[in-house]
Amino acid sequence: RIAGPCGLVIFGVTGDLSRKKLMPAIYDLANRGLLPPGFALTGFARRDWADEDFAQVVYEAVKQHARTPFRQEVWDRLAEGIRFVQGTFDDDTAFDRLAETVRALDEERGTGGNHAFYLSIPPDAFPVVCKQLARSGLANQDGDSWRRVVIEKPFGHDLASARELNGIVNEVFPEESVFRIDHYLGKETVQNILALRFANQLYEPIWNANYVDHVQITMAEDIGLGGRAGYYDGIGAARDVIQNHLLQLMAFTTIEDPVSFSPRSLRTERIKVLSATTAAQPYEKTTARGQYTGGWQGGKKVPGLLEEDGYPPDSKTETFAAITLEVNNRRWAGVPFFLRTGKRLGRRVTEIAVMFKRAPHLPFDQTSTEELGQNAVVIRIQPDEGITIRFGSKVPGTTMEVRDVTMDFSYGRAFTESSPEAYERLILDVLLGEPSLFPVAEEIERSWEILDPILESWTAQGSRPDPYAPGDWGPPSADEMLARTGRTWRHP
Ligand code: BG6
Repeated sequence: RIAGPCGLVIFGVTGDLSRKKLMPAIYDLANRGLLPPGFALTGFARRDWADEDFAQVVYEAVKQHARTPFRQEVWDRLAEGIRFVQGTFDDDTAFDRLAETVRALDEERGTGGNHAFYLSIPPDAFPVVCKQLARSGLANQDGDSWRRVVIEKPFGHDLASARELNGIVNEVFPEESVFRIDHYLGKETVQNILALRFANQLYEPIWNANYVDHVQITMAEDIGLGGRAGYYDGIGAARDVIQNHLLQLMAFTTIEDPVSFSPRSLRTERIKVLSATTAAQPYEKTTARGQYTGGWQGGKKVPGLLEEDGYPPDSKTETFAAITLEVNNRRWAGVPFFLRTGKRLGRRVTEIAVMFKRAPHLPFDQTSTEELGQNAVVIRIQPDEGITIRFGSKVPGTTMEVRDVTMDFSYGRAFTESSPEAYERLILDVLLGEPSLFPVAEEIERSWEILDPILESWTAQGSRPDPYAPGDWGPPSADEMLARTGRTWRHP
């Protein structure tokens, strides 16, 4: 799957995402031979840079963050196609110059009129950039050529703003030309959920409310939020990652088998399951919010959120969120889905744990099964990628004692192939015009519909999120939330 002739324009090239993820991913794709020979990369920003200055920025980003080894000949070929256009988003002439640059690239590099525009910029700038792309003719595709737009989250901050944003983008680009990035869908382990479920006969017969007791989806990070106040304050954990990454993980775990792996069928199933999903009530009992305090983590003293630069001392922004969802369809009715995420938690780990009901009858005496938990299939998204199955086994010896053991699949041991970085996969899919791994407008709107009532209830409660110390697994209220249902969180 090698991309045909094309170019990529990035807005927001001075940002972190461009430097750490996009530029290295483009180099890695070039290094793997997946970009066309005449590929062109154009940066657009306010800085007073010449093409060479921008090329130098890309070079440094590649040297620092690329995954694949540096090869001079690959870099030289890529560098020939690097251009820079200086300007602000409200400057018509800058966009006219960009249009001119893109036209020239078609002649010089043979990009064939095929261009993608990557908006790695704050969402309040989406409308003006979309309008400029329309006004300058950059959004027009004629004949067999294509124009696509790539947008990064946040896709709005609630249902109403998401609808408005989708409306603005769709006025300029038809839905099939819009690629919304949820980088979790670019992860191998996330795509593998579909293989696990639909390439095997072992799991699907028990993947339902008859056998599953509940599901826990955890995305824990040990880092704090220093330096991100501009984006994070007022947004919080639920909007930052539950609305997108965690709901997509849930959708992959719960969808019905798609008719085929065509983008349309996959999307239809995701929309169906998201439409069947609602937040469990009452929210005071089925959700929890937390905010990390200062303390010690990994032998280092770390500030609390309120002491981090840029956060007002009375900020109510949550850095931890846990919610309970229900999927109201025949397969999942009655199975609670517990989703949690947080910063400055015990360690960095993302996993989906499908917890099964206990065996209906144990023909052993009680003392010999004390250490027996529930069967579980744990999909380890990162960092230790793989799958663990937990089941009971007889402890060797003269008595019938049964204890939990695990069976493990690990990517590192099973495969010699290395996984591409999520952004590599997704950028390639944009250039190929392969939309399967990109949420459509309707999915975004469905996910806000699920989350909005919870967010509204948190605002109405008016209280501050519960404090938790760095290294903890969230505030006590998160444990109480599960305890009320007779369950406990896993400690991965
Ligand atoms: C981003 C969030 O979408 O995902 C960040 O905005 C978060 O807050 C990041 O740190 C985590 O991504 P990953 O791939 O490191 O799990």
